[in-house]
Amino acid sequence: MHIEVFGDQKRASQRIVDLLTRQLRAYPYSVLGLATGATVIPIYREIIGRIRREQLSLAQVRTFNLDEYMGLQDHDPHSFHAFMQHHLFYPAHLTPNQTFFPFPEFSQDPSGYDRLIEQHGGIDWQLLGIGHNGHIGFNEPGTSFDSETHVVKLTENTRKANRHWFDGDWHHVPEQALTMGLKTIMRSRTIVLAAFGASKSAVLAKAVYGPVCPELPASILQHHPRVYIICDQEAGRLL
Ligand code: GLP
Repeated sequence: MHIEVFGDQKRASQRIVDLLTRQLRAYPYSVLGLATGATVIPIYREIIGRIRREQLSLAQVRTFNLDEYMGLQDHDPHSFHAFMQHHLFYPAHLTPNQTFFPFPEFSQDPSGYDRLIEQHGGIDWQLLGIGHNGHIGFNEPGTSFDSETHVVKLTENTRKANRHWFDGDWHHVPEQALTMGLKTIMRSRTIVLAAFGASKSAVLAKAVYGPVCPELPASILQHHPRVYIICDQEAGRLL
């Protein structure tokens, strides 16, 4: 694991986009795995800035999002589709034929999402955040390390952690999601996990130094040959 701690989110985001830039200079046709959540917002902002300054182009990429809530339509403002459209796809001029999500297309046949990823050559560069309970994507504690894309029942804690996207009421957060599995994520060639803020420091230290076990899904990353952990000072306090 390459662990890098930066003074603030902005510098950490710049470093992540440096890594992406390097990837895309070598392989402009890269397949990117993308995440949602507060953590990735400054990273997407940095990507947009570089596209506008013509230092980066996503024109040739294909993207696969990690997860999506079950039952939310694409245009639902709470969906991850809408999040991605707003924070990255629209300003980066990505078109719908470049961008893929597990829901709704694969709700009846989740493994079809893994097959589609493989048909595109596999994920070259996967961006991840981390939940307070160590989840990556929506792989909650206890998820098998052998899991591929599957339907998950979200824990009450995760629904509460995401309530601010749903007008503050966790009952409005869907009970289920469709997520890439841990095996899907581990097949990526390069993985970049971002963590910002003091609330992530304990789980980040466990993921990096603790035992590798399904109770802390992100700990599986210790077994991946090419992982970057990029965090700000607060999240990296215990590293
Ligand atoms: C959600 C997403 C994850 C994300 C996590 C952390 O549960 N499914 O992909 O990493 O939240 O989100 P945040 O960055 O808002 O802390």
